[in-house]
Amino acid sequence: MNKISLLLVTGILLMCCRKNTIQDKREKSRGFIAENAMVVSAKEEASKIGLDIMKLGGNAFDAMVATDLALLVSYPVAGNIGGGGFMVFRMADGTTGALDYREMAPISATKNMYLDQEGKVVSDKSKTGALAIGVPGTIAGLFEIHNKFGTISIEKLIQPAINLANNGVVITLAQAKRLNQHKVSFRNVNQRRILYDKQWRAGDTIKNPLLAKTLERIKTEGRDGFYKGKTADFIVNKVQNLGGIITTEDLENYNVKWRDPIIFNYNDHKIISMPPPSSGGICLAQILKTIEPFNISQYKHNSSKYIQLIVEAERRSYADRAYFLGDPDFVDIPTDSLTSNKYLSQRMKSFNWNKATKSSELSRGSFLGYESDETTHYSIVDHKGNSVSVTTTLNGAYGSKVFVDKGGFFLNNEMDDFSAKPGTPNMFGLIGAEANSIVAKKRMLSSMSPTIIETNAKLKMVLGTPGGSTIITTVLQNIINVLDYKMTMQESVSKPRFHHQWFPDNIKFETSFDTTVFSPLKKLGYKVDTSNFLVIGKTDAILVLPDGRLEGGADPRGDDKAEGF
Ligand code: DON
Repeated sequence: MNKISLLLVTGILLMCCRKNTIQDKREKSRGFIAENAMVVSAKEEASKIGLDIMKLGGNAFDAMVATDLALLVSYPVAGNIGGGGFMVFRMADGTTGALDYREMAPISATKNMYLDQEGKVVSDKSKTGALAIGVPGTIAGLFEIHNKFGTISIEKLIQPAINLANNGVVITLAQAKRLNQHKVSFRNVNQRRILYDKQWRAGDTIKNPLLAKTLERIKTEGRDGFYKGKTADFIVNKVQNLGGIITTEDLENYNVKWRDPIIFNYNDHKIISMPPPSSGGICLAQILKTIEPFNISQYKHNSSKYIQLIVEAERRSYADRAYFLGDPDFVDIPTDSLTSNKYLSQRMKSFNWNKATKSSELSRGSFLGYESDETTHYSIVDHKGNSVSVTTTLNGAYGSKVFVDKGGFFLNNEMDDFSAKPGTPNMFGLIGAEANSIVAKKRMLSSMSPTIIETNAKLKMVLGTPGGSTIITTVLQNIINVLDYKMTMQESVSKPRFHHQWFPDNIKFETSFDTTVFSPLKKLGYKVDTSNFLVIGKTDAILVLPDGRLEGGADPRGDDKAEGF
């Protein structure tokens, strides 16, 4: 062999070794792997219950119903029947759809219901207590899904949650801390002690027999077991005693809506996400399509250039969100224009690598503070390849804190997602306008972005997260991590994150973020805020590997867990 051939052979061997080492490393950094089916959710009990249903032969939709109700019992901070949510699905044959079971404004809700006589927002009214509650949608949503796609009897899907409520849930340290943190507001809001108002420690067991009874009623009476009869009376009495406006008519009239998902291409991938009343799909489309021509992977991940590009796309999208988006049953949303390449490149004309755009020059606004909050997301893939992506919420932690004592569950504070007054920020600092003003029976604008991704006509990824206004940007970063930076699912969900939402005009960073990027960003005029955001989002996702196996990404920021077989 001559010298040149020897060099060539050695080079090829070295390259192969390097490739193998990179592949080995990647394999090691993978999350939980399963061959057939998987559930990733905020709680081990809930993931297991969903999985058991699929082991019995149930599909992803059956597993969804069981997982959702198991979260209600085991994760009361966000799991709910007193709230609402969104589900995006993709069947193994590629059919897609989205269900909106978002809360609705009560019939007697009015535009100015949170303003005082001087026209100022009474800020707590939409956040805590009985007036903050929207008409819950979760049970209507679960029954709609079960009627359309379920293969296992509803009784079998509800029973595990009933057992869990009767036998009790062992709480984790994070749960004990969070419950203790809200003890005072539980008492203030409810004007009496409630089940959760105790000093809790990790390892304590919480039994909720009254919730088990509520679930029994739902099991025998169907959705009427919640929206009519005893449970409805419990809700209405409790809410009205505390000065709220929800009536039996509100509950009886609640309806879900099937909606067409927002579908768009990002490079070679098809992204399927939630349409209005979520802002998630449109904002994701805007941001990803804005950055697409820049070929982001040429910049180091989480470097200042990378952050700058994403922030500028986010800033522009959140400014549009505030003005254009609301419940599509009440407002016309120019979705096609907002997501067209022409419009988006126009929007980026003011972008300059040498200087931060000022949000005040894009539009107007001001900002108040944040509160700690909770929502929850879970992702499911079944053995046939059907997938569901579900984000469900009470809005804030334990919602309005109003606890339906006789029914054993919390009610949401979703009314705060409306724009109480144009230009006045809500608890996530989000500003809204007329499109998201309060009207009877309207649905409040959301950021929840359950998303599914398809590559070459095959399922690639199922993902979503809680996090209020940071939901969209968290989902976005996970999409980029996996599609552009080839991270494993677990690596991706674990990576430190950042967030910009137009107003306040600053970039929020998780406390774990590499701080060396701060100074170059500050030099360009970006404001850096690390004060309030210990964590941004809590992503639970599933990635389909090239060989068909499933990799779970369970966010280490919580107690989240992937289960599969
Ligand atoms: O629908 C929304 O956008 C909010 N209600 C979500 C709240 C949330 O994610 C709180 N969790 N961290």
